[in-house]
Amino acid sequence: IKKAFIFDLDGVIVDTAKYHYLAWKKIANQLGIEFTLEHNELLKGVSRVRSLDIILELGKVEASQENKNKWLVQKNEDYLSYLVDMNESEILPGVFPILQFLREKQQPIALGSASKNARPILDKTGLLSYFDAIVDGNDVTNAKPDPEVFLMAAKLLKVNPEHSIVFEDSVAGVQAANIAKMISVGIGEGSILHEAKYIFKDFTAIDTDFIEELIRT
Ligand code: G6P
Ligand code: MG
Repeated sequence: IKKAFIFDLDGVIVDTAKYHYLAWKKIANQLGIEFTLEHNELLKGVSRVRSLDIILELGKVEASQENKNKWLVQKNEDYLSYLVDMNESEILPGVFPILQFLREKQQPIALGSASKNARPILDKTGLLSYFDAIVDGNDVTNAKPDPEVFLMAAKLLKVNPEHSIVFEDSVAGVQAANIAKMISVGIGEGSILHEAKYIFKDFTAIDTDFIEELIRT
């Protein structure tokens, strides 16, 4: 059976989750809102616009649309400033060998990300050509945990959702994969990603036997 392997981007393929965190923390602190790593888990996998709303809700801050737009621009400029020198060294450990293995096995690969910066990041890290389909924040209207992004990716790869495997570091993304009836693989802390079917601390913990098993079953 042909399987689809769908990867989230931030925090799964590249170590950009920390940059999103730093850029959001700056905005939050500027508004006098406390913003911890624990709060940050709520933002992982969540669109830029929704992320700002969550921060404002946390701080019980009401803001005009004009101010919100200003902060959204500021956040993205700050975030992008961390990416100027980005190269393949920021690919997370173990990711590249798995992508290569999947390609050797001729398995279709897609990106399923909420980010509007996904393509330039894949380009800078030299990974663009590994993806048969890319679905990102420019393509979808409903944010994770809505399964839209992953369903669209599977459709582009012409694979049924039940035969699709999703790698995710966010709670919202794991939920989206589960709602889509896909096989969810959590990358990160088991205590946070406990809804995932499988959990690994990172890609170095995933061996090719596991991938072969996913292809076979
Ligand atoms: C990913 C990240 C989020 C980020 C979102 C939008 O899902 O996990 O932290 O807010 O993408 O990214 P963007 O690059 O469009 O601001
Ligand atoms: Mg992520």
